[in-house]
Amino acid sequence: MSAQVNDVSLVKVPLKTPGFQLDVPAIKDALSKDSSIKLAYLCSPGNPTGAVLKKEDVKAILEHESWNGIVVLDEAYIDFAPEGSSLSQWVTEWPNLVVMQTMSKAFGLAGARLGAVFTDPAIANLLNAMKAPYNIPNPTSQIARAALSPNHLKVMQENIGRIVKQRNRMLEELPKIPGVGKFIGGEESNFLLYEFLDAPANQGGKPSNETALAVYESLAEEKGVVTRFRGKEHGCLGCLRITVGTEKEVDRFLEEVKVVLQNCFQKTGKLGKKDEEKREKEASAVVA
Ligand SMILES: Cc1ncc(COP(=O)(O)O)c(C=O)c1O
Repeated sequence: MSAQVNDVSLVKVPLKTPGFQLDVPAIKDALSKDSSIKLAYLCSPGNPTGAVLKKEDVKAILEHESWNGIVVLDEAYIDFAPEGSSLSQWVTEWPNLVVMQTMSKAFGLAGARLGAVFTDPAIANLLNAMKAPYNIPNPTSQIARAALSPNHLKVMQENIGRIVKQRNRMLEELPKIPGVGKFIGGEESNFLLYEFLDAPANQGGKPSNETALAVYESLAEEKGVVTRFRGKEHGCLGCLRITVGTEKEVDRFLEEVKVVLQNCFQKTGKLGKKDEEKREKEASAVVA
């Protein structure tokens, strides 16, 4: 999005599917072919994939033989991944690595608008020189310092523990619901990526954007439960990205999604194909 706003051109290399891991040969090839590429932007865990990237794949990009740019690793969701998943410590070894984290996710402080960059001093100095003259607002800084105190870090860890418990529960319960298809992402974030089918799996159901869109809309409009339609993303046909909530929220979601799917199948054939493209576009535009 920032690249588009700033009129910076992009070279996209799709992730491998299934699994949503880096296609290392294709990335290396793209970097070899175009020396004007300045940054390789990777996301671990990915959004909406929820998958942590393999360390050896990131290393292969960092070690590229001829390309001389910077590898940016977005770790916005890293606190939900198993201990040791972050590559932030690699910046002491790799002067071409920038690791970004945020207080918006596991800390629940999106309103504070604060993140952190881990990188080599040479790049850190450049970033400091480039940033607007005003520093982090004092209230934001105070909130962040409090959030990082041992007591509050403990609260954050407890919250993550609760989310992981509910994530496991969703992984166990969702496949039992007729019409919910394969879980196709990783388990390392605070959301899960599930396929939705045009009929229950035992009746030969296939992943369907029509169903995913209908479920997304019914949940949002009739049940007040908001998911993300991601059916137009690479390798995500028929997928919703479902954020893991509290125990009560997960109770409600599991109950409502079952009802909504049942209703959907009752109406099969009347799912309003005509304006599907417009609805898909609107649903895909919901970011974050
Ligand atoms: C992958 C990823 N990176 C970064 C961000 C940005 O987080 P923020 O700007 O709130 O720090 C988001 C937010 O949704 C995200 O999904």
